[in-house]
Parts: sequence; structure tokens; C-alpha cells
Amino acid sequence: MKVRGIAAVVTGAASGLGAATARALAAAGARVALLDLNAEAAAAVAGEIGGVALACDVADAGSAEAAVARAAAEHGVARILVNCAGICPAAKVVGRDGPASLDAFARVVQINLVGTFNMMRLVAAGAAGLEPLEGGERGVIVSTASIAAYEGQIGQAGYAASKAGVVGLTLPVARELASLGIRVCAVAPGMFATPMVQGLPDEVRASLGAAVPFPSRFGRPDEYAQLVMAILANPMLNGETIRLDGALRMQAR
Ligand SMILES: NC(=O)c1ccc[n+]([C@@H]2O[C@H](COP(=O)([O-])OP(=O)(O)OC[C@H]3O[C@@H](n4cnc5c(N)ncnc54)[C@H](O)[C@@H]3O)[C@@H](O)[C@H]2O)c1
Repeated sequence: MKVRGIAAVVTGAASGLGAATARALAAAGARVALLDLNAEAAAAVAGEIGGVALACDVADAGSAEAAVARAAAEHGVARILVNCAGICPAAKVVGRDGPASLDAFARVVQINLVGTFNMMRLVAAGAAGLEPLEGGERGVIVSTASIAAYEGQIGQAGYAASKAGVVGLTLPVARELASLGIRVCAVAPGMFATPMVQGLPDEVRASLGAAVPFPSRFGRPDEYAQLVMAILANPMLNGETIRLDGALRMQAR
């Protein structure tokens, strides 16, 4: 899809991978709605790139419906959705204080997996009513999984399960939306230098970066955005989750 002039919705756009994607989309001429729980930080990025910032909890049906409707009122109905909103809590199944919190497990699944589905259903329903573009394409949805979907570490039961769910959604939704001309892909990043990981101690970050075969460092958010733009541009990419990890395969801890 050629993105110039196209309305796009990016979730988690206030920070990290989402902010980099919003910047890349705007630089390519898309009209970008930046959805995030943190409306103030989203507004700062939106101000830089000429986008519109909207407060949104992707895990909540009503909040997402209202934000998607506001985005459509500002820019027209979106053809592009990039799901970047997410959280990455760590908890052992059996910790020092006993069994893990069931609420904490449910929360990460609710935000990372249910939130991704929530946004998909709303943006796909809007794009379904639009005229097809070149090649019969009506829309493209890109979600963010993680290599933890395949190699979750100790302490990542909830996070890895939520991201495996994002991988699992991708093919059946792509199959269903194929008749509408809407493609669905996901990216499974390895380790990227965003606020999500910048809070780790220096020595932990250095050893994590050194574990990446090549290039032996954290990925940059703009490298994630570069892959999203390639997925948008390439009409044959559909139903696939693409690893973006410098050949990293995570160990148990
Ligand atoms: N950084 C990495 O190394 C890495 C690796 C693999 C996967 N990921 C995934 O990439 C995505 C983006 O991560 P990031 O590193 O940019 O993190 P980040 O913390 O920098 O950004 C995440 C954004 O999501 C927003 N958010 C959280 N919950 C939300 C909700 N319920 N509704 C709306 N917005 C919400 C936050 O406010 C924040 O702005 C996440 O899904 C994360 O799991 C990141």
C-alpha cells in the first residue's frame, strides 16, 4: 500500500516502537492518529509530526471504539493499524510469596492480546467499508508480538502467552479478512532500546545486547518502523509473523 494521504492508527504511539512507527508513517505522508493511555506523551509526539493524539485504553471496548471514531472524524476511516501498545511485567508462577497473582496474568493478556484483537476488529470493520485501492487492497494491520512468543524466559509466562496469542491471531485473521483485501501481519521483535527496557541496570542491558549474534546490540526503534513500512509496501506479505532479532534465541534466563 502506498501510504501517502492514507489514515493510519498507531497504538502505544507515545513511546518506543509505536512512536518510531508514527514518525515513519508521518514522514511518508500518512495521516497518523496516535493512540495511547499516556495522552500527554502521545500529544508531544503528535505535535512533532502533525498527527492527532487520542487517549485510549486498547484493552477497553468503549475506549477503543471512541478513539477509532475520533480518529476517523479527524482523518477519515483508517486503512492502516499498527498495534504497538503493550506491557511487559515479569512474575514467577511460584514466587517467594507463593503463587503468582491471577489478576496480573489476566492483565497482561488483556492488554497485549485482547487489546490487539480489540483494535483489529474495529479498524478492520471500518476499512471493510472503504473502496479498494491499487491491487484490491483495502487495509493493512501490523501487530507486535515478541520473540518471547517462541522462547519465553523464566518469569515471562504471562507476557510470552500474550505474545503467542498475537502470533496465533495473525493467520486466521489474515485468512478471514483476505476476501476484504485487508492484510494482517505481525512483527516479533528481539530486544529493542525503548523505555520498556531502558529501566534495566547497565550491566544487564550490556549482557543482553552482547547476546545478540549480529548486530551485537539492541535494535533501534526506527529499525522496527522500517520493517512495518516494508510490510505496508509489500502486497505479498500476509498472514506471517516476522522475527526482527539479529538471530537472537533467548535462553531460559
Ligand atoms: N522493546 C523491546 O525490546 C520489545 C521486544 C519485543 C516486543 N516488544 C513489544 O513492542 C510493543 C511496544 O513496546 P515498547 O518497547 O515500545 O514499549 P514502551 O513502553 O516504550 O511503549 C508502550 C506504549 O504502550 C502504551 N500502553 C500500555 N498499555 C496501554 C493500553 N492499555 N492502552 C493504550 N496504550 C497502552 C504505553 O503508555 C506506552 O506508551 C509492546 O507490545 C512490547 O511488548 C518490545
